[in-house]
Amino acid sequence: MSYKLIDAPLLTADQIRTRVYELAQALESTTNEPLHLVAVLKGSIVFLADLIRAMRGPITLDFIAVSSYDVNVSSGAVQLLKDIDTNIKDRSVVIIEDIVDTGLTLEYIQTLLRSKKPKTLHSVCLLSKPSRRQTKVVIDHVGFEIEDHFVVGYGLDYEQQYRHLPHISVVEVTSKQ
Ligand code: PRP
Repeated sequence: MSYKLIDAPLLTADQIRTRVYELAQALESTTNEPLHLVAVLKGSIVFLADLIRAMRGPITLDFIAVSSYDVNVSSGAVQLLKDIDTNIKDRSVVIIEDIVDTGLTLEYIQTLLRSKKPKTLHSVCLLSKPSRRQTKVVIDHVGFEIEDHFVVGYGLDYEQQYRHLPHISVVEVTSKQ
């Protein structure tokens, strides 16, 4: 495989900043209760860091880590690597995702967290690829709907690289002849 990072960002840092601020407002307008945010490692950390600094609070944080068995293809088999640390029974919980592709990861996490009996459970993602969806997973707040590009930056990686970019770019991946 070879790959090339496209120069022009798909989403600039300014576009992301504006939309993240709007998402923070939208999230806080859903309730007056303290929110417990559950961020999905690793891709959502940059989004989370900016989102919470645009919120008034009170908020608390937790983290969850999951993995597909096959890292190259969404196989539908999601594995829990790290569960949340907090008792979320009767809490207002929000899942924070960087991107929803097939929807299998978010659906798995929603099912797991619902079993812990939160008072409410909402989901927010920065990016969504509706054309790739394999489930009818519900996302309450979506930052940007995008085409089926391989995207990196702002937390998202290609083979663990590019998470540090302040914008989101497209990577063209080609098979070597
Ligand atoms: C990405 C992303 C979501 C998931 C979405 O995680 O952060 O969690 O894939 O894919 P799906 O909708 O097809 O299930 P990834 O496995 O790349 O891990 P990372 O966040 O550590 O980069």
